[in-house]
This record gives sequence, structure tokens and C-alpha cells, in this order.
Amino acid sequence: MAQQVQGVIAPGRNEPVRVETIVVPDPGPGEAVVTVQACGVCHTDLHYKQGGINDEFPFLLGHEAAGVVESVGDGVTEVAPGDFVILNWRAVCGNCRACLRGRPQYCFDTHNARQRMTLTDGTELSPALGIGAFAEKTLVAAGQCTKVDPAVAPAVAGLLGCGVMAGIGAAINTGQVGRGDSVAVIGCGGVGDAAVVGARLAGAARIIAVDIDDRKLETAKSMGATHTVNSRSTDPVEAIRELTGGFGADVVIEAVGRPETYRQAFYARDLAGTVVLVGVPTPEMKLELPLLDVFGRGGALKSSWYGDCLPSRDFPMLVDLHQQGRIDLAAFVTETIGLGDVEAAFDRMHQGDVLRSVVVF
Ligand SMILES: NC(=O)c1ccc[n+]([C@@H]2O[C@H](COP(=O)([O-])OP(=O)(O)OC[C@H]3O[C@@H](n4cnc5c(N)ncnc54)[C@H](O)[C@@H]3O)[C@@H](O)[C@H]2O)c1
Ligand SMILES: [Zn+2]
Ligand SMILES: [Zn+2]
Repeated sequence: MAQQVQGVIAPGRNEPVRVETIVVPDPGPGEAVVTVQACGVCHTDLHYKQGGINDEFPFLLGHEAAGVVESVGDGVTEVAPGDFVILNWRAVCGNCRACLRGRPQYCFDTHNARQRMTLTDGTELSPALGIGAFAEKTLVAAGQCTKVDPAVAPAVAGLLGCGVMAGIGAAINTGQVGRGDSVAVIGCGGVGDAAVVGARLAGAARIIAVDIDDRKLETAKSMGATHTVNSRSTDPVEAIRELTGGFGADVVIEAVGRPETYRQAFYARDLAGTVVLVGVPTPEMKLELPLLDVFGRGGALKSSWYGDCLPSRDFPMLVDLHQQGRIDLAAFVTETIGLGDVEAAFDRMHQGDVLRSVVVF
């Protein structure tokens, strides 16, 4: 029987989010209902609330989550009730042109639940990134559940479901950071700091953190940045060049999602270097660059969707590294909050007070 639980919805563009009763159907074929234990507040949730992703309000927010599978529908074999899982927004299809070419990290037809969760009056909800986990329970495609070791705390595990995976993957998968590389990360929130962690893991020799907030730079340093630049007071392009023998960094990761920071990334990399855009821009943003510079500087301009991750490969691997003490995912959790605190958490995110607020149930 369908269940009624509490969830956080964004009712309309820029309207405050609120807790509402939502209806979660029983899982159909290929689906699973998950009891959510923790869900981080990612900047992308704020983009949804602001109408920056699309206009399909009302949204059921939250997409960076871990929990326990409660029930599964017909034909589900990969997970079973009781499994501890991280929810992912890349349940690869295996059949699209990307999957068939052996590049499932680009899958163009990822699976989400077919049934819709609703408000009690029947209004259909759009779950953020096909997940919607600021809710006591959520309905997803079974492939969106990635089993990991239940010994890791849910508030920590959940972060791998989006921001931390996106940042680490931007460095190690998309940017292909290698031993000895110089790396600059522009924007050191949850995603940018994860890129710092990824760059360090990959053996970068120099990791330059850039932000407009000194508190964020301090945290980036504790995560492995070797140098910091406050771009409110210092030209980051010049500073990055100075710190790299006058040349620029091998890989520059943009984790803000704005034209001006992208431009900084573009000019702060060495000739033939790589720019990775992991920050998400809004539809009205435009970028103008001299085409000659695009040509003349060579290298690669890449975007990173979800850190080019494969959840089944990368989540358990990163959980392992965390448990071995080789990366500290717990350092990303600034505070744990209740379901009713998401609006306040957006404010704190906006003020730069937190790396991650995590809703725990
Ligand atoms: N590509 C993906 O798959 C993916 C996944 C998750 C999040 N994201 C995106 O990544 C971005 C960052 O997310 P987050 O959760 O880390 O956000 P956040 O709000 O925690 O961090 C943003 C950081 O950027 C800094 N910043 C803002 N303006 C700046 C500027 N002009 N110059 C330098 N630094 C600046 C802020 O001080 C803050 O530290 C967002 O756009 C989010 O939507 C992308
Ligand atoms: Zn596919
Ligand atoms: Zn996210």
C-alpha cells in the first residue's frame, strides 16, 4: 500500500521550501522504496528551488543520500530489503549509444522510477535528479541503489551520492590528474573541496585553492590544498601563474558555475592544459572568449557530469579509501540538521557558513 511520509518540497520559483506530506507508491517492476537515513544539502538543490534547472515545480528536493532498502518491485535482483545503499543519479541503461560504445559514464538514458510520488491531493512531484531524498522514504529505480559497506555512517556515505563524487571524479576521472601535476580549484564548497581531495589522491604536487571566502580557503587547506588564493582581493589568474613557474596549472577545476570563474579557469591553465567545468551554470549565462585563445592555448575544455563516475565502481572504492583513512569524507559534514531546517541550510550555504549540512532522520 502507498505510504505517506514527510518530505521537503520546492513549491515554485524562489518560494521558500516546506515540509509536506508526500505519497510514496509501492515499488513497481524495477523499482525500490528506500528508507532515507541521511541526505546532504547540495547547491544543486538550491538551483532547483531558484528555477535554475527547469520549471517542473513542485520539486521534491534532496539527492545526496544514503539509506536502507525497504522493499523492491518485481524483477529486482541487484538489491534486497535491508541493504544499505547510496542513492545515485546514474543508473546506467546498458542500451543507449554511449553504453553500447563502452562509455556508460555518459549514459544518455539513465533509469529513474517510472511511478511518480505525489502530494496528498495527487499533484505529481518532480524528484531532484530523479531521487527526492529530503523525505523519510523515497521511490527510485533499483539501479539507483548502490550497495556499500554498512559500517560507514549514513551522513558520510550519502555525500558520495552527489557533491563529493562529483568533485573527486572531476579531478580523477574527467581531469585525469596525474602524479606531479599542478591543479587549481576555483570555488571551494563541498564540490571544490572534493576536487582538492581527488587531486591529492591522484598525486598532484601542487593544489591551489581559490575562493572568495577565507573560511573556505582554510578548510580547503585542511583537505590538502598546498596554496590558497582569495580571489576577492587577488587576481587568481596571476596568482595561479605565479605559483606555477609563470605558466598556469596543468588542470583547473571550476566548481562555481559562473562565466567569470570559467574565464579565470581558462586563462589560469598552462598551454595544453585542461579545464574541467563541474559548477552548474544557469540558463541565461553566456561566455565569450577570443576564438584564437581557445585555439592557441590548446588542451582540453571539458565538462564533468557527476565526476564521470560509475556508481557501482566508484562508491564502494571511495568508501574503502575512507575506511582506510586515505580520504576523510567525515570532514565534509559541517552539521547535521532536521528535515525542517533545509531552508535555513540554504541560507547558511549562501553565506558560506557550511561545507555540507546533512539532514539526518
Ligand atoms: N557537475 C556536477 O555533476 C555537479 C554535482 C554537484 C554539484 N554541482 C555544482 O557544483 C557547484 C558547487 O556546488 P557546492 O555544493 O560545492 O556549492 P557551495 O555553495 O557549497 O560552494 C560554492 C563555493 O564557491 C565559492 N564562490 C562563489 N563565488 C565565487 C567566485 N566568484 N570565485 C571563487 N569562488 C566563489 C563560494 O564561496 C563557495 O565556497 C554548484 O554549481 C553545483 O550545482 C555540479
Ligand atoms: Zn545508457
Ligand atoms: Zn548535488
